Amino acid sequence: MTRIDPRNAIRHLYGDRWGYEVSYDEEQRIQATQGSSTYGEIMPTALDQLIDALDMEDDDVFFDLGSGMGKVVLQVAMTCQLRRCVGIELVDSRHEVACEALASAREQGLLKTEDVVFQHADLQRAKLSDATVIYTCSTAFSDAFMEKLVRRLARLPEGIRLASLLELDENPWFEIDDVLRLDVSWRRKAKMHVYRLARPLR
Ligand SMILES: C[S@@+](CC[C@H](N)C(=O)[O-])C[C@H]1O[C@@H](n2cnc3c(N)ncnc32)[C@H](O)[C@@H]1O
Repeated sequence: MTRIDPRNAIRHLYGDRWGYEVSYDEEQRIQATQGSSTYGEIMPTALDQLIDALDMEDDDVFFDLGSGMGKVVLQVAMTCQLRRCVGIELVDSRHEVACEALASAREQGLLKTEDVVFQHADLQRAKLSDATVIYTCSTAFSDAFMEKLVRRLARLPEGIRLASLLELDENPWFEIDDVLRLDVSWRRKAKMHVYRLARPLR
């Protein structure tokens, strides 16, 4: 397997591709989920810090909810050997870029996690049952969207972890484990909240 710094690999795989453009139809589809099509990314070095803090193991299953062009999923899959990495994205054009980048990463032997999947789906409906670590760059998500998502995630098994840029509203299910300060594409040192599902919703 080729050994290169995953942060550099991400830069090579994507060049200057950026996920701003969303067609009218794509925008309508996102609006129908009450989600937001606003694009932004965690910076590669900041993601490295988050990966370190999450300290994932080989039976972990990592999900990025709203995976955009797939950089987070691919950087995680190039850094860690996990059971599975999954990205879920509703905007077609972003999902397509993610699939192309995945194919190139595979071809170049860059992945440590072999089972990597991008799903073109609404994250509020996608199957999440085997997730153990969930990341969401949730800054632009509405309160109603987050409330629905958190209630859904609360039904997963005890102990799963959730890294969210948005702080969760007070709830009986998730406990805060850590707050990191990480650079994202629109600002420096944004708060990243890492929660643990302490009392699942039954
Ligand atoms: C801020 S971007 C995050 C990109 C990437 N995860 C990162 O951190 O670099 C959020 C993404 O969520 C997607 N999104 C919004 N609502 C969604 C939904 N209901 N289902 C799937 N994806 C959605 C948007 O299209 C956007 O690409």
